[in-house]
Amino acid sequence: MNVFDDTEDTDLAVKSFMRSGEICRRVREEGAKLVMIDASLLEAAEEIEELIRKAGGEPAFPCNISVNEQAAHSTPSFGDKQVFGEKDVVKLDLGAHVDGFVADTAITIDLSGENGKLVEASKTALDNAISIIHAGAQTRDIGSEIASAIESYKFKPIRNLSGHGVGEYVVHMEPSIPNYRTPHTVELKEGDVIALEPFASTGAGMIREDRRTEIFSFERPSPVRNQTARQIIEHVASDRQNLPFAERWLYKRWPEFSIKLALRELLTSNAFRGYPILKEDRGTLVSQHEHTLIVEKDSCKVIT
Ligand code: CO
Repeated sequence: MNVFDDTEDTDLAVKSFMRSGEICRRVREEGAKLVMIDASLLEAAEEIEELIRKAGGEPAFPCNISVNEQAAHSTPSFGDKQVFGEKDVVKLDLGAHVDGFVADTAITIDLSGENGKLVEASKTALDNAISIIHAGAQTRDIGSEIASAIESYKFKPIRNLSGHGVGEYVVHMEPSIPNYRTPHTVELKEGDVIALEPFASTGAGMIREDRRTEIFSFERPSPVRNQTARQIIEHVASDRQNLPFAERWLYKRWPEFSIKLALRELLTSNAFRGYPILKEDRGTLVSQHEHTLIVEKDSCKVIT
């Protein structure tokens, strides 16, 4: 969104974005320490979500922990037993909101220490992209900057994932910021709040959907027959509005069998939308870095 869209509330919007950005920054630093060989992914994700709440925010989406060929949208399932492996390349992507205003950030942790260049590639791409942002900058030039940086390390940018605007109770909105050279372009305006997230890959630079889905969001009220489904709609719509949530979050309230059945109906009736895990081919490694920033006249302010 643009913080000047509603002139009356510009100060409040900026203040809330700054607070959620600061929470993201702190929790990213604390959270990175939880990514250790043999540590539980589920415990790390839950701890990170709790750190966001303790810092005075709410998770804008479930803590994403995507490993190796996974690029995004992976979060542990209920009772997940997976632990970090000694060769894992781990993307920690987290978001917080304060009064709805969303900030989004990500970092890559290379547990073997053998993939320093891959990690550096997405970090350099992010830094270089940030350095050219100002009111009037073209998203096409940002994409080009990101691609050049990653290619200079002999890796590929992931072309079908992009940076995005963030807003009030919205994690992904216009403008979309490409991670490669595209003919399409949008001019950034002063006050735009955007998240940049370059991904560097040792593979083809294209992700596809996995069969597993752990993250969902409420889309629209829809008549459903199943009673648990009705209860879940009511709970999620009031608790999350349209912000994404994890299936494991529902297990505090309902039994597993009821949740599985309800989710199936909620997806087919289009009341809910699912976000399948996005991944490259097996054997590929992916790194990612992300910051949220506010576009200024001659530069930008990184809030995460
Ligand atoms: Co993002």
